[in-house]
Amino acid sequence: MASSIHSSGLHRAGAALDVLRAWLTHATANLLLALALLIAWIFILAWIAPDARAQSTARPAQKAPTMRDAGKVEFESRCASCHGVNGKGSGPVGELLRKSPPDLTLLAKRNSGVFPMARLYDSITGDALPAAHGTRDMPVWGRVYREDAATYYMELPYDPDAYTRAQVLMLLEYVHRLQQK
Ligand code: HEC
Repeated sequence: MASSIHSSGLHRAGAALDVLRAWLTHATANLLLALALLIAWIFILAWIAPDARAQSTARPAQKAPTMRDAGKVEFESRCASCHGVNGKGSGPVGELLRKSPPDLTLLAKRNSGVFPMARLYDSITGDALPAAHGTRDMPVWGRVYREDAATYYMELPYDPDAYTRAQVLMLLEYVHRLQQK
């Protein structure tokens, strides 16, 4: 009885071992399969990823919108004829004037390194040069921009002074960028 219990115990243990062994081989096979899939996946990723990365870095360079530098555009269309594209005063119209236009890249340097914002603002708008002051070769931009505002806004309500301020400040910001150190 005791031996039968013992042998059945052994038998059960042996059966359990068999089950365990079967399960282990099964698990190992599963594990190996999973590992193989993982390695294959890594290879696929390694193969695809550099292309994807190259595309994602190339895209902004190709499709980046060219931002409009409004101050620069305005300067080049309305000021460069006299002051030159580089602001140094060598524009084609400037050479025809009695008084050649000043070098706009030296405004800060000639003023102890400080860009004379307020004075230049009035100089551009024309506020600094009353009619009594005599001749002025530069157009009175304050008047020009007030007229521009009327065309720009058409029938919409608008503030010509605000429009003029925005234009002149935009130009001054650009001229400030032209300053020589
Ligand atoms: C028709 C030629 C002409 C055009 C166009 C012109 N300028 Fe002038 N600018 C001059 C002349 C000449 C002077 C020197 C002062 C004078 O005689 O009126 C001058 C002076 C200036 C000054 C003053 C410098 C100082 O030290 O006071 C600034 C700033 C300036 N111009 C900016 C501009 C800007 C900005 C524009 C475009 C919106 C412009 N100019 C368009 C001819 C021109």
